[in-house]
Amino acid sequence: MKLESLTTHSPSETKKLAASLAKEWKEKARDRGLLIGLEGDLGAGKTTFVKGLAKSFGLVEEDISSPTFTLVNEYGDLVHVDLYRLEKTQDVAGLALEEYLQPGKIVLVEWPERDPFLMKQLQLLIKIKLVSKDQRQIEIMPLC
Ligand SMILES: Nc1ncnc2c1ncn2[C@@H]1O[C@H](COP(=O)(O)OP(=O)(O)O)[C@@H](O)[C@H]1O
Ligand SMILES: [Mg+2]
Repeated sequence: MKLESLTTHSPSETKKLAASLAKEWKEKARDRGLLIGLEGDLGAGKTTFVKGLAKSFGLVEEDISSPTFTLVNEYGDLVHVDLYRLEKTQDVAGLALEEYLQPGKIVLVEWPERDPFLMKQLQLLIKIKLVSKDQRQIEIMPLC
């Protein structure tokens, strides 16, 4: 898979883009799970992107909310993590994200850069840039 860079012009377009990737990602996740990082400023559209995957996992997008106190929300094979509120003193190792990484599971992590060790384990990195009010540039980078 090569680097893809796309522009979306609405939240629903961003969700559609995510949905269009679900099948390929599920295949990649089959043997050992798939760990994906989502980078971008507050309001970039990281959570919106995750909502776009809901239907493919038998959920409705309203099921997906920002993980708050828990940092991790597990919806069957879709695991949504948000490290924004990770305390500096809190050890990300304590979250044991690798335990969620099971065959068939897709783990999506907002603010993965909060944990440099986690960054090294990502298989895919999605970067979302705010271009204008409704426009976002979305880069999908396969990592080793
Ligand atoms: N093209 C777009 N893609 C995604 N979100 C968009 C887009 N245009 C506007 N938005 C809005 O930007 C906000 C993104 O919020 P959210 O997904 O919670 O961001 P994050 O999780 O990155 O902080 C939402 O209010 C959404 O409606
Ligand atoms: Mg978010």
